[in-house]
Amino acid sequence: MLKKIGVLTSGGDSPGMNAAIRAVTRTALAKGIEVVGIRDGFKGLVEGWYEPFNRHSVSETISKGGTILGSARLPEFVKEEVIQKGVDKLRENGIDALVVIGGDGSYKGANALTKHGINCIGLPGTIDNDIEGTDFTIGFDTALNTIVECVDKLRDTSNSHHRCSVVEVMGNRCGDLAIYSGISCGAEILITPETGYDEEEVLEKLRYLENQGKKHAIVIVSEKVCDVKDLADKVSKATGFAGRATILGHIQRGGSPTPSDRVLASRMGSKAVELLVQGIGGQCVGIKNNEIVYMPIEECVNMPRSSRKAFYRLFNTLV
Ligand code: F6P
Repeated sequence: MLKKIGVLTSGGDSPGMNAAIRAVTRTALAKGIEVVGIRDGFKGLVEGWYEPFNRHSVSETISKGGTILGSARLPEFVKEEVIQKGVDKLRENGIDALVVIGGDGSYKGANALTKHGINCIGLPGTIDNDIEGTDFTIGFDTALNTIVECVDKLRDTSNSHHRCSVVEVMGNRCGDLAIYSGISCGAEILITPETGYDEEEVLEKLRYLENQGKKHAIVIVSEKVCDVKDLADKVSKATGFAGRATILGHIQRGGSPTPSDRVLASRMGSKAVELLVQGIGGQCVGIKNNEIVYMPIEECVNMPRSSRKAFYRLFNTLV
């Protein structure tokens, strides 16, 4: 019989993590299971930064961005002695099972703990949407909304000044924030890990758009693909547009989660507890065609990325 579960958030925070913590806590308490909030991810797990949670511990949190538990990255949580220290701490505190909310690095930690006898369920908490086994991650929708709001504002001023806004968005080598925001904002050019980067091709396209009578242009760039400041300078030199670079940065990770992220996180958090109650571990929860699903973490982290070709075709059709 499951008596006590832990919950932690790990890796980069994302809006909606609190809604997931809340759902885990309240679902477990409703089933008579004790809940422990673990501070600062796997670091806190190993150090024993544990706090007993009651239903009020998660009051007033559903609308809050960030994570009330704090988050951290602990790359050493792959070493046998570090994992064993974590297992010992959990056992000392009577914690039988765990919900881990984070990205694929966090999933690997959850899988390692499961192999050491602590059943874990992973929930996809990241703005990047870079986890397979789910159509959407918790926080992606909120980050996308933030980007769209910012780019819409840039469009206004870019339009007034015959400028080209080169906007860098996050994604950690996944182009989803870029392609979704590119379509949503009616951007002219996209540069992502999927499109690759050819500077001359981009400048040529901008000159073509200008000749077609375009008064301004928006270029959305996934982080880590090219230097947006450098590209904006080149645009100023090689086209009739004045280039301006904007790096949206960590603004994208903050803010109150959208209703869609709150509902997603609540559904996933509740499902995680149900699985643990059934004695299931080493699985990650996702959403597919609006159904909550789960699959082995091992399978999920080794899956090839599903194709986004249809999105790129749509973007190119609509430019
Ligand atoms: O994974 C989330 C994310 O925001 C990525 O989009 C980005 O590359 C990275 O985290 C930034 O990490 P940090 O907050 O450590 O700078």
